[in-house]
Amino acid sequence: MALYTRESVERVKEAVDMVSLVGARTDLRRVGARHTGLCPFHDERTPSFSVNAEMGLYHCFGCGESGDAIRFVERTEGADFKEAVEFLSERFGVELQAEREDPRAEERRRRRERLLKLVERTTAYYARFLWESGEAGKARAYLAGRGLGDQVLRDFRVGYAPSAWDRVLLAAQRDGFTVEEVAAAGLGQRGSKGGFYDRFRGRIMFPLADARGRVLGFGARALREDQRPKYLNTSENDLYHKGRQLFGIDRARAPAAKAGHIVVVEGYTDVLALHQAGVPECVAIMGTALTQEQIAELARAAATVYMALDADPSGQEAMLRAARTAGTRGLELRVVAMPDGRDPAELVTAEGPEAFMSLLDSAVTVPEFEVRRVLSEADLASPAGRDRALAAVRPLVGAVPERTATRDELVRYVADRLDVPPTYVTTQLSASGAQAGGPPRRDSRQPRADGRAAPPTTQSSVEMVVRAERAFLAMCVSQPRLGASYLARLSDEHLSSDSLRRLRRYLEDHLLEPLSHLPDDDPSLAALVSDIVMLSEEQPSSEPALRLGFLQLELRRIERALRDARDERNFEQQRRLWGVREDVRSQMADVMGQVV
Ligand code: UTP
Ligand code: MN
Repeated sequence: MALYTRESVERVKEAVDMVSLVGARTDLRRVGARHTGLCPFHDERTPSFSVNAEMGLYHCFGCGESGDAIRFVERTEGADFKEAVEFLSERFGVELQAEREDPRAEERRRRRERLLKLVERTTAYYARFLWESGEAGKARAYLAGRGLGDQVLRDFRVGYAPSAWDRVLLAAQRDGFTVEEVAAAGLGQRGSKGGFYDRFRGRIMFPLADARGRVLGFGARALREDQRPKYLNTSENDLYHKGRQLFGIDRARAPAAKAGHIVVVEGYTDVLALHQAGVPECVAIMGTALTQEQIAELARAAATVYMALDADPSGQEAMLRAARTAGTRGLELRVVAMPDGRDPAELVTAEGPEAFMSLLDSAVTVPEFEVRRVLSEADLASPAGRDRALAAVRPLVGAVPERTATRDELVRYVADRLDVPPTYVTTQLSASGAQAGGPPRRDSRQPRADGRAAPPTTQSSVEMVVRAERAFLAMCVSQPRLGASYLARLSDEHLSSDSLRRLRRYLEDHLLEPLSHLPDDDPSLAALVSDIVMLSEEQPSSEPALRLGFLQLELRRIERALRDARDERNFEQQRRLWGVREDVRSQMADVMGQVV
């Protein structure tokens, strides 16, 4: 169910002053009916970014990013849909109307709000205690000794839990919270003798917040050597779920959206040290294996994820697990090779931020990382050893789509290490193509995933492409009459994944009532349909938005075809496509009210 009524979201959108919203991010100049300026989404010197205030749309003719006010806030603030709508509602003073709740849900929400309030107050209490109490002097000295300055500690609201048994419990009760609520919020627990006392005592407190900055739980570090465990966490409860948590996500999201990437590290201290060193786009997975939920959250934050985990087996395992699922989320993963036995905190503290940045620069794709690992352990001295090594890396290389920069680079690297010509490696690969990488498939649609040559912007990223495609299909659902005519013009070539292609085919037959014929035998399609319907209910759209959305997909399709034509050296085709591309661009200009 949508959270806010569509009418109220519509009212918010109508109230938005696009020029002032966008103007806060980039200077705009009025030209006829529209405004232009430098694109806030990619680096440029001459303005190709354009705002049509009347229609509430923006578009960049340089990088292709476009959308409405909600999307603009999603992109610039690193917000999700709900947050973006709330942001606009506050900013432009139009109230949102929540969908009616059933009484039980309302009861649950009330309780949740009370628990959140309790945790919030306690966070503030721990933080004050760290700075003001004599007892916390040792904690302050310890943190300073780790090179963490006051500012970053205050920014993250790091605190200290007094060693007394019941400070938090008593204070909470005085303010009308029940013992049961203290327990439910994860702040107190019953002992073996039946007494009830504070869970956290004599520890440095790291608040664990969700993406919106609401504290849900704590990681608590021991101060004394004999205190066990070293880190005590809030145990699973209604608010806090370890598997969903990314430490620092609330402070990382905006910088990550801007940078186009996010850095994943192991621990709290790594995040603090990196922040302090000027790398704010980082989060910690807190020594666990990455869960699907964490991966989804990362995918919302940025299109590229750098994994800077410890070089030990558990860090490597976490990384490979992430690698297996990242692809399906449209995430691009890069592995940062941490020097043995060092974590990012130690590195930046000892050698400065540049040392870490240069590691990020030399991060490699996952297949490359795996191939390097296999080859580093192989016996390359004898011909037989080299043959075995080639056999071992064959499936790894074979899994990378052909005719991509990653694949070419890998082949060159393997050839280099094995001291054979690249063509030999290629022949070996295709000889075993059928069993190694599935049928050799021509796939120019695959995103570039080459290690070093990061594109100048995040705009070409898979994540953004997928979002645009989903948004377009959702708009077709929300305006089915118009949507049908656009859908009819859409082909498989407009879409970047098989799942969205299946969705297109499904919608062709079920655009009016997409939920009434959900396929039983295809749960992932059914889920996707529900997803898109939900998106369509939340997101108001208009004819120009739909048209612009279509043209965007059309432009991408042409660009892919152009790349193919270039690869095939088919000049005639190239010339033809240039013409088509110009035509699409001028149609886009039309939509944006640009005189051409
Ligand atoms: P580390 O042991 O590397 O801790 O565990 P650290 O962050 O470097 O901490 P310092 O430097 O000793 O203060 C990495 C992360 O694993 C989680 C924590 O999130 C920690 O930051 N962890 C570790 C736990 O949750 N529990 C533990 O007992 C240990
Ligand atoms: Mn560590």
